[in-house]
Amino acid sequence: SQKQDLKNKQVLITAGGTIEPLDPVRYLTNRSSGKMGYALAENALLRGATVILISAPTQLKPPFGAKVIAVQTALEMAKAVETYYSKMDIVIMAAAVSDYRAAKPAAQKIKKRDTTLALQLVENPDILLGLGAKKKQQLLVGFAAETQQLVQNAAKKMVKKRVDLLVANDVSRSDIGFGSNQNEVTFLRPHQKPLLVKKTTKEEIAAQIFDVLLSQ
Ligand code: PMT
Repeated sequence: SQKQDLKNKQVLITAGGTIEPLDPVRYLTNRSSGKMGYALAENALLRGATVILISAPTQLKPPFGAKVIAVQTALEMAKAVETYYSKMDIVIMAAAVSDYRAAKPAAQKIKKRDTTLALQLVENPDILLGLGAKKKQQLLVGFAAETQQLVQNAAKKMVKKRVDLLVANDVSRSDIGFGSNQNEVTFLRPHQKPLLVKKTTKEEIAAQIFDVLLSQ
């Protein structure tokens, strides 16, 4: 039997890879399957939380009992997160958010013309950075997807984005991270030593994330 240790808690989770249209038929995205974020939503529900799952497109079944808000772009995700943030107890940004979008998505399909094609991109807002800057009661969790110097790069994100917990994963490995059913992560918390969580299922990683948050 699962302890109801998130009873009466409002938990917001983002999941999946945002998509950014280039023209009516093409878009930019990344390799996120949504599995990590959905596992977090499932675990929070098991523990009795009220769960809002803000999800970019995935192939996954919506977790039973969660309020699921479907979004596509980073700007849509930012707006949805903004709507609920002030009332939340825990916010976890597991989504892979596109850092850039097309400066001006084409109204018509881009025609094939030359041997090269330049796309002009503009920066998306950093959703998590904005949340960290106006954090009140919320426990804030970020992820860091890195391909090199995992702990050093993730530690910078922890400080810059003012999160209570930063979950770092190495997305250069095909057996963990994007798409896989398993993950291996390092937990980084302010004023504490990094804690390695050895390769295990995303369900188990999700459970450990809430365990760590509740033991702070
Ligand atoms: O979905 P899966 O296939 O299960 O894979 C899981 C995962 C690899 C996607 C997940 O574990 C993960 O690492 N998610 C975060 C991916 C990411 O965008 O990392 P980042 O290092 O680029 O961003 C750092 C943090 O800032 C993240 O919490 C991200 O959600 C957030 N961010 C990033 C950019 C942006 N414009 N706004 C943000 O809020």
